[in-house]
Amino acid sequence: MATQRGGFSSRLGFILAAAGSAVGLGNIWKFPFEVGQGGGAAFVMMYLFFCFVLCFPVMVAEIAIGRKTQLNPVGAFKALGYKNWAIVGYLGLASGVLILSFYNVVAAWAFGYFVEMLLGHFDIGSRFGEFTADWITVGSYSIIFMLGTAYVVSRGVSSGIEKAAKILMPTLFIMIVALIIYALTLPNAMEGIKFYLVPDFSKITGNVVYSALGQAFFSLSLGMGALITYGSYVSKNDNIVSSAASITLMDVGVATLAGLLIFPIVFFQANGDQEVLGGLLKGGEGLIFESLPAVFESLGSTLGVVIGALFFLLLSFAAFTSTISLLEVPTAYVVDQHKISRSKGTWLVAVFIFLVGIPSMLSAGAVDWLSNFITLEGAGDKSFMGFVALIASDTFLPLGGFLIAVFTAYVWKKENFNMEMANGDEEIRGSWLQSYVDIAIGYICPLLLGTIFIITVLDNFMGIKILEMVLG
Ligand code: PFF
Repeated sequence: MATQRGGFSSRLGFILAAAGSAVGLGNIWKFPFEVGQGGGAAFVMMYLFFCFVLCFPVMVAEIAIGRKTQLNPVGAFKALGYKNWAIVGYLGLASGVLILSFYNVVAAWAFGYFVEMLLGHFDIGSRFGEFTADWITVGSYSIIFMLGTAYVVSRGVSSGIEKAAKILMPTLFIMIVALIIYALTLPNAMEGIKFYLVPDFSKITGNVVYSALGQAFFSLSLGMGALITYGSYVSKNDNIVSSAASITLMDVGVATLAGLLIFPIVFFQANGDQEVLGGLLKGGEGLIFESLPAVFESLGSTLGVVIGALFFLLLSFAAFTSTISLLEVPTAYVVDQHKISRSKGTWLVAVFIFLVGIPSMLSAGAVDWLSNFITLEGAGDKSFMGFVALIASDTFLPLGGFLIAVFTAYVWKKENFNMEMANGDEEIRGSWLQSYVDIAIGYICPLLLGTIFIITVLDNFMGIKILEMVLG
């Protein structure tokens, strides 16, 4: 079976593919605006803390479950002998399908912006709403994006996913560093760096902690079995603990770099005007799509095209390695559990997810009732896309992570988990790191992830602002 499923050809291949899954829109689009809203460096510190203390152990657990069983998330729980727990695998599949359905739309915006920059259409920022409402254009880009994703996944693990990651990840790194070097030469760049790197702890509220925790978890692609799936293609001789550490470091590294790129640009544009600056920092998801094109314009027609196109290409590459992993999870499921060939399975799943994503695509201005889909007690007005994101990313992922931690510690049991961890890493036995991972998986992760799940439900769906009540 293992040969039919394929596998990563090297440890580096696995690390790059998993880091590719982690590094995505979350790092370059979402992270900077969360930092902006969460008060700069104080948010960054919480984020780093959660990545290493909370997320890293969950990542090790996911990879261990995958490698032990060599199966997709549904098959994995069954193979370990716990049929009822396959529900966690199904929850992961549902999360993957829903997340990819809207993630592909945002990826299509990024790719569309790349084309607009190449054409020198810098006014696109002021027409962002018009652009997202133009469903024919966005639809075409999202078909292209999904076709590219499905092509890579259909080629298999080593000659598709791994090969793509080996090309895209180093290129992404070079692009982001080149852009940062340029951004640092802009006027007021250092003000941006100061805002980003000097912490203001007075800004830490319950909500900031909550967002940092959610962002860390989403950013590392945890809670839906993406790493169970990738882990199922890892060799038994590989050291999974140090692989997980490398993946976490790369993800955190790219998020940190994205801040070094965005904040100099934001402060350059504000040019000392506090009101403009405030608007930009509070701008949320518009920060990149609405504000940056005007900045690129001010660089002049040639340089603006080069820097603008490079930036949105970077964003598209980051999204692409993530859409690949999002598609791989349900694909692995149909291949393993329903014995459908990889290529047929991939295309079937891709078409299905594309169809599921159509309402999201139409909910950014094209169709009124989808754009104003629902008003929730706590979360307020949500478009269809916003609603799906709330359910899948903000609610299902922490729930999935909670269940995976509980399963690992108390059902599969620590002894078995530790045995799998020690495959390819004898030195981990009895080490402080192993004790830490065990404590985290048994106590810290269930506690924090369970709490975040409960807060999400109470806050967004029931309007009970528990964080503000308790922490202010
Ligand atoms: N980690 C990705 C990002 O930060 O954009 C999003 C993601 C990809 C989440 C894959 C979950 C996943 F399985």
